[in-house]
Amino acid sequence: MQIRKATKSDKKPVLDFCQSPYSGIDYIANVWDFWLRDGVFLAMERKGKPIGVCHASFSKNQVWVEGLRINPKFRQRGYGSSLVLKTEQIAKMKNYKISRMIISNGNKKSIKLAKSLGYKIEDKWYLYNIKPKRKQSLVIPATNSKQIENLIDSDTYSKSWKWFAFDKPAISELIKKRKILVFAHNKKSLAVGIWNDSEIDNDVLQVGYLNGTKAGMKNILYYIQNKGYEQNSKRIQILAQQKVKLNMKDLDKRMLFCLMKKDL
Ligand SMILES: CC(C)(COP(=O)(O)OP(=O)(O)OC[C@H]1O[C@@H](n2cnc3c(N)ncnc32)[C@H](O)[C@@H]1OP(=O)(O)O)[C@@H](O)C(=O)NCCC(=O)NCCS
Repeated sequence: MQIRKATKSDKKPVLDFCQSPYSGIDYIANVWDFWLRDGVFLAMERKGKPIGVCHASFSKNQVWVEGLRINPKFRQRGYGSSLVLKTEQIAKMKNYKISRMIISNGNKKSIKLAKSLGYKIEDKWYLYNIKPKRKQSLVIPATNSKQIENLIDSDTYSKSWKWFAFDKPAISELIKKRKILVFAHNKKSLAVGIWNDSEIDNDVLQVGYLNGTKAGMKNILYYIQNKGYEQNSKRIQILAQQKVKLNMKDLDKRMLFCLMKKDL
């Protein structure tokens, strides 16, 4: 058994044993070539064949662990854990301090695996879908972090299925890119939302943080629906913390996810 870098020729044998834990076709097929160039992409090899993979991407002080897959024939022998531990070891050598991953709330074996390696559930996030639609909204892009500071109730926000620290530099950068939306009434901010274009799926718009009053959040979603309509998006995904209670007729509540965190 050997852990080495994943290669182009691992793709077919790995995809042959991969089934998406969520929806059939595994998304790692679409990101494979990108992962070969980005971050650290590891494979576990047995008798010359890849039997597992794991990808890590790095940002500021965080390693993001994703795409962990072990061939069903070789599960429960500690290989999945070894790949994660090797990834963490590389991250530690590079001086990264935090490891995070996202796991579907129903994927109990992965949650158990993560917990057995010292990860804790940091937060739970719901995925909702909503359709693009022509809508009117009173939302504006934030221009100053003061406008939103009372509405940030999370250490992280999501972008393309990764979660990042929601700290001051991140907020400034998001404001600069006009990715933070505010709904205000009588000069008081009542809701905030962060959006992005998905890097994984073309034609998908995402909301990676949402908080505030019901009316305010509704307005933010109207803005995004309208944006999706204007740029011809196929779908809009919304990721909101479990504690944010979203009740909107058009919203389709899909899945609950656990954001897992470990200090390295
Ligand atoms: C999740 C997955 C990577 C685990 O790989 P693995 O090599 O079997 O994991 P390990 O042998 O290292 O297991 C480590 C721990 O995870 C838990 N675990 C793994 N498989 C389990 C199962 N079938 N039932 C219960 N717990 C399980 C156990 O706590 C286990 O420790 P233990 O054997 O000491 O009890 C593998 O099942 C897989 O590829 N699943 C499909 C893809 C997927 O869900 N990926 C994760 C998406 S976030």
